[in-house]
Amino acid sequence: MMKDRIQQLLAEIQTFKAQNKEELEQFRIKYLGKKGVMSELFNEFKTVPGEMRKEIGVMLNDLKNKAQETLNEHKDLFESKPAASQTVNDLTLPVDLGQVGSHHPISLVRKEIIDIFSRLGFNVAEGPEIEDDWHNFSALNFPQEHPARDMQDTFFIEKNPDIALRTHTSSVQVRVMENTQPPIRSIFPGRVYRNEAISARAHCFFHQVEGLYIDKNVSFADLKQTLLYFAKEMFSADTKIRLRPSYFPFTEPSAEMDISCNLCGGEGCGFCKHTGWVEILGCGMVDPAVLENCGIDPKVYSGFAFGMGIERITNLKYQVKDLRMFSENDIRFLKQFRSAF
Ligand code: PHE
Repeated sequence: MMKDRIQQLLAEIQTFKAQNKEELEQFRIKYLGKKGVMSELFNEFKTVPGEMRKEIGVMLNDLKNKAQETLNEHKDLFESKPAASQTVNDLTLPVDLGQVGSHHPISLVRKEIIDIFSRLGFNVAEGPEIEDDWHNFSALNFPQEHPARDMQDTFFIEKNPDIALRTHTSSVQVRVMENTQPPIRSIFPGRVYRNEAISARAHCFFHQVEGLYIDKNVSFADLKQTLLYFAKEMFSADTKIRLRPSYFPFTEPSAEMDISCNLCGGEGCGFCKHTGWVEILGCGMVDPAVLENCGIDPKVYSGFAFGMGIERITNLKYQVKDLRMFSENDIRFLKQFRSAF
């Protein structure tokens, strides 16, 4: 009796064809469900007399396996294959991008600085990181043995004191002026190197953006307006600037620029050491001697230059406490800067 039933069911299962998911689900419930045919048969199996148990047991297990196989084969049919063809046909389905990288904060801020100055008509130029003495120092009015050279702890190449890793992007000023007649309105982003012990507040390399504007009748007022525009665009519309007299060999007069602290709004906090101001760049009118060194007539042309550290601007924007984080490539740090270009 039971044997016949099992054989009949086996034939049924092996010829089963579902047209759709619903039919397959009915199949599953009918044969493999809690109250389905299989559990009914296993219950009945308890009453099978001893001498037939082995044979019927094998048949029952075989039936169950076949039912499961039929189910699985159909599942493949309805689930993976149609889903795949659907993906091909439906171009509006979202694409799995997998792991997406993020932009380095220094790249983001460099891009922002370039965008701001582009709006004022500045273009971008670059120069080499391995520089000679002329472009990094001499043309910029740093005489040999002049103590101003000590302001910047230089990495020299051991065998050739004429070659060094550039200590600032001001070297690109020289290269551009040597090769272009005014008007010049350019910025020069790049990496610079100084022989400093690495700590949270100093590193042996960092990034600068240099600016250079040379034309007829360029005045200190132009410098101030340009930098004020930059500060407001970079930080916020109510940012104030302040220029303090300073010294650089290649600018005269020279100044350092502070902005009102963007963390406390100028009221005084730990970040601005309770002064309400934070220094962000050095600037000044290009020294006539530098113009002359680069083949530009200082009687006809004048101009201004400025240089800022990208890390410093980034710290002000994102409050990164430790400079070393910029070069450690810790993914937990980097993935916090996901803003799109
Ligand atoms: N090169 C100077 C520095 O690295 C910054 C600077 C650039 C100052 C241009 C004046 C003009 O500190």
